[in-house]
Amino acid sequence: MRTTVTQIREMKANGDKTAMLTAYDYSIAQILDRAGIPLILVGDSLGMVVLGYETTIPVTMEVMLHHTRAVVRGTEQTLVIGDMPFMTYHVSVEDAMRNAARFIQEAGCQAVKLEGGMVVAEKVRRIVEAGIPVMGHIGLTPQSANQLGGHRVQGRAPGAAAKILEDARVLEDAGVFAIVLEMVPAPLASLITERSGVPTIGIGAGAGCDGQVQVINDMLGSFTDFVPRHAKQYARLTETIAGAVEQYQAEVKSGAFPTKKHSFTMDESLLTELRTK
Ligand code: KIV
Repeated sequence: MRTTVTQIREMKANGDKTAMLTAYDYSIAQILDRAGIPLILVGDSLGMVVLGYETTIPVTMEVMLHHTRAVVRGTEQTLVIGDMPFMTYHVSVEDAMRNAARFIQEAGCQAVKLEGGMVVAEKVRRIVEAGIPVMGHIGLTPQSANQLGGHRVQGRAPGAAAKILEDARVLEDAGVFAIVLEMVPAPLASLITERSGVPTIGIGAGAGCDGQVQVINDMLGSFTDFVPRHAKQYARLTETIAGAVEQYQAEVKSGAFPTKKHSFTMDESLLTELRTK
């Protein structure tokens, strides 16, 4: 049985912190699912860490659906959230509802996430009313990085801090089951968390949030073009993979790989017969 949004809300009530991670493919999703991670976000960050774009802007619905399906196939227990990409929920409420429905219907995930506060509140409300759980995302919203002056901390100025606080309240009223707080000062994130009836999930928002989210490639050290300050590397897969690849290449060249263990035999008489032809 998969984790439900009700259970995620109960975790806040019980003071039980939520560890959420991103995943973009079947095999990583399977590992996270078996490790008991309750929430997986198929983030549009895949545009950067999997596809090599400089931002998340080029990511399309088709790409997101493709990766979300793979993650759903790799999970049995985890609640999977599809991240709505740039311009798939901005034009109209109808557009937002139709695209949110595609995640649930065509990719099989259980919830969607979209970026923004007040400006997307009506869309959030209508998607939730249609029966689709929504996770909010405020603070640094990377799809608007051009508008926000890059990937920088949000909410340090008095007006900006008050706006983020208000965005969180409006999103809760609109019916989100949780809110991602990205790159906001820790004291502001703690204040939002205290006031919010739904769990806050921080990334670069300090320890006062109800949960944390990390981009899996950052925490595994498999994406090193840049390492955000808020990322902690629990492994250094780039080095591990490079070491394995070097050893493989050396063994292929020396003939140490493959061995008999990695090869298949056949009937000697058939081989003898083949040699006569
Ligand atoms: O796309 C993503 O991975 C995200 C997380 C950083 C929250 O939105």
